[in-house]
Amino acid sequence: MRLGVISALHQEQAGLIEAMQDKTTLMRGMREYTSGRLWDIDAICVLSRVGKVAAAATAATLIERFGVTHIVFTGVAGATDSLVRVGDIVVADALVQHDMNAAPLFPRFEVPLLGQSKFASDLGLTDRLVDVAQAFVRHDLKTMIDDADRAQFQLAQPRVHRGLMASGDEFIHSHHRRNALQTEFPDLLAVEMEGAAVAQVCFEFGVPFAVVRTISDGANEGAPQDFMQFIERVAARYAYGVVRRLCMG
Ligand code: ADE
Repeated sequence: MRLGVISALHQEQAGLIEAMQDKTTLMRGMREYTSGRLWDIDAICVLSRVGKVAAAATAATLIERFGVTHIVFTGVAGATDSLVRVGDIVVADALVQHDMNAAPLFPRFEVPLLGQSKFASDLGLTDRLVDVAQAFVRHDLKTMIDDADRAQFQLAQPRVHRGLMASGDEFIHSHHRRNALQTEFPDLLAVEMEGAAVAQVCFEFGVPFAVVRTISDGANEGAPQDFMQFIERVAARYAYGVVRRLCMG
């Protein structure tokens, strides 16, 4: 196994590169790819920056230039389901590009000429991420996130969800947009800006992938502020804790 780990922002991956052994770095397409061993797994960590194009370019480079056999995307997302709260973890079982619209030439949301709108994540990797995310919230959260931050973000007993995630080149920050997405995709759990692009590239190359996201905000009017505070204070702890459990096996 050679694992590619992508996050959009530094705050979604901080700590992982420091934890890597036998590191080498390579610049490619304005991104720094760090190869090494992550708790005994041969891995490459990279920050894609924000958005679908950036994520797709990063995933394709990981596959073609670095020969990864699996990709995991770790980061934050906005909740679009009322049962999903800040601090919960969502593991995608499928992803859709909510801003794909070539209608009337092709059905809305369908990726033209690929004939599908939803891309399923790898079952085994997704099962494993659900298990390690559950272990993380049960056993690691208390020690890895200090009392003040757990109180502020109300992280008493976060939950792990598995389901549909949507991606688009848009930060969702109004209840109108959130409601519109819920209407389009009644089973949607969370929204972000990269996962479905990685999903499409991995589908095209036949590379198994999974997406794990911590909820930073409610994709509503409070989202910009909630997002900024969450990524500054706690997002990296989640990413580090979950990927560590994933790699330690
Ligand atoms: N990532 C985290 N929160 C988000 C939001 N509200 N919209 C899009 N991407 C996000």
